[in-house]
Amino acid sequence: MKILVTGGAGYIGSHMVRTLGEQGHDVVVYDNLSTGHRESVLHGRLVVGDTADAAALDRLFAAERFDAVAHFAASIVVEESVREPLKYYRNNFSNALNLIDVCLRHQVERFVFSSTAAVYGIPAESPVTEDVPPAPINPYGSSKAMVEQALRDVSRASQFRYVALRYFNVAGADEMVRIGQKYKDATHLITLSLRTALGLRPRLNIFGTDYETPDGTCIRDYIHVDDLIDAHVLALGHLMAGGGSKIYNCGYGHGYSVKEVVRAVREVTGIGFPAVEAGRRAGDPPALIADSALIRKELGWRPSRDDLQYIIRTAWEWEKKVVNRKQ
Ligand code: UFG
Repeated sequence: MKILVTGGAGYIGSHMVRTLGEQGHDVVVYDNLSTGHRESVLHGRLVVGDTADAAALDRLFAAERFDAVAHFAASIVVEESVREPLKYYRNNFSNALNLIDVCLRHQVERFVFSSTAAVYGIPAESPVTEDVPPAPINPYGSSKAMVEQALRDVSRASQFRYVALRYFNVAGADEMVRIGQKYKDATHLITLSLRTALGLRPRLNIFGTDYETPDGTCIRDYIHVDDLIDAHVLALGHLMAGGGSKIYNCGYGHGYSVKEVVRAVREVTGIGFPAVEAGRRAGDPPALIADSALIRKELGWRPSRDDLQYIIRTAWEWEKKVVNRKQ
């Protein structure tokens, strides 16, 4: 297959490019390198470009015949989305429309979309199923839910088919430590815990200890990036086989509290880094856990890395490598 991977120089996209390359597919990466890195692209050809640039997309699609598009390029920081909503509506929604539009004009009819559990907002039920209506509570979640809506409408009106994968809390890194999360301004719990363990930050803040959860801290469904990539590969296979448009949750179906994650990071690293109780962070749901029965049943997804210690270990190896490279 010949696949276009937008955001293929970023954290999750680069893992997709690695896997597609290893499977012998022809990969073209389209990335503006705003948060991605050239050296994270292990296979295929990198085209530096922006999804805002409809003319550049048109030239690319005129020159190359793609069997499918995997669209990872997006802005992803919830707090930033509250401060700068238009950035999120532009990058995530408007630019996705550019991409869908160019697909339609060039008869590229298979599309895998990186959606998010943030579309659920604060769900009344946990684990949450895909048929719970989206009710996002921040512009990040709204921008992704709007793309889902556009995909739904476009696929009803044409031959275009898509799979939207709603990611829960993605973490971990490539087993061989070639690629991983590389954001300068990381906000994620596991990454920040590891950077605190490395002494790059003075302490970890535990945001909120008064939630209605067993230990008072928020619970999340942490999924290893490579199990998420397996879900993408299955989604592509589904579309290539003529399967219809689908939305699937991607998580393991159980979660860990912030305090449990901190404990596990201390165990894996052997470093008792400081973690202090702080106030709640705006917009955090108490618990967010995937019901992933649908993707297991329909696509045969069998995650094999459902192990918090493994997730943290791979991320730890990556963080150490990044730090050593800088020294
Ligand atoms: N947390 C801390 N201290 C930190 C960082 C995070 O206590 O320094 C807590 C958060 O308050 C939250 C939990 O750890 O309770 C997980 O927070 P993350 O920032 O790691 O992840 P989120 O659950 O907020 O969000 C992630 C992605 C979003 C996505 C969402 C969907 O960042 O893009 O998962 O589940 F939408």
